[in-house]
Amino acid sequence: MDKLGDFISRQKWLGPVESALGAVADTLFLKDIPFGEKVRNFFHGTWFGHPLHPVITDVPLGAWTAATALDVYELATGDDRLARGSDAAVGIGLIGAAGAALTGLNDWNYTYEKPRRVGAMHAVTNIAATACYLGSWWQRKYGCRRAGVTTGFAGFALSMVGAYLGGHLVYNERIGVNHAPEELPEKYVPLMKESELTENRMHKAEADGIPVLVVKRGGRIFVMAEKCSHLGGPLAEGKFDGETVTCPWHGSQFAIADGRILVGPATYAQPCFEVRVRDGQVEVRAPRGMVANPY
Ligand code: FES
Repeated sequence: MDKLGDFISRQKWLGPVESALGAVADTLFLKDIPFGEKVRNFFHGTWFGHPLHPVITDVPLGAWTAATALDVYELATGDDRLARGSDAAVGIGLIGAAGAALTGLNDWNYTYEKPRRVGAMHAVTNIAATACYLGSWWQRKYGCRRAGVTTGFAGFALSMVGAYLGGHLVYNERIGVNHAPEELPEKYVPLMKESELTENRMHKAEADGIPVLVVKRGGRIFVMAEKCSHLGGPLAEGKFDGETVTCPWHGSQFAIADGRILVGPATYAQPCFEVRVRDGQVEVRAPRGMVANPY
């Protein structure tokens, strides 16, 4: 039951917002231009091994929280010795908000349906929060400090709503989390007969209930989780070029030998299995050193 997500998905006025945001994202992140892929990968955090957006959002939220605390202190005590610190925090938050907007827009452009609409609402509240803080910064700079503090409080309230919706996107809609299976069988489990494998072709099978992609190449057998780490796309329906597999949903590309990411938007490597053949039976298990559940 997702009352908030369902309520937001019924907000038809967000349709034109989605179209406008999509057009801005396509232009900014150079859709259909070969170099654009590198730009998009950078902003997704493909190089980082983790989505970049949640890392950057800590900057505006932290800075604006500090500014709010200092402003409340000033209002409560009349002591304005920390006022410059508060004003600086508003400015630092604005710089961080630009980075958060770029990384978030880039990630959002790969979502569909309900997550896309909730993401549009998340963007609207954060744009409104940033506009308030821009106004607050301007007022503080040009001598209307008391008004700037009030505008800042409005911005802080909006940024908290935006942060809540961001959390909803992660925890309810599973945007930005790893969709590949994280718990692989620790002991060898049977997969299929080796004789069923054709060289240089992708095969789909199940290892202890986990869908896997199997490839035999140059006499070696490679097995990786079939569900794409980005948003769960079916890798077995993607393209295989001998060395890599490309997800059919958004084009993430993984090395078949070790699951590393060659092209985003994925930011998590694809889990691969240890493989052995016993009496013509292919068996797999989690690679040694991989902890099934670290928590
Ligand atoms: S699901 Fe998005 S790239 Fe695979």
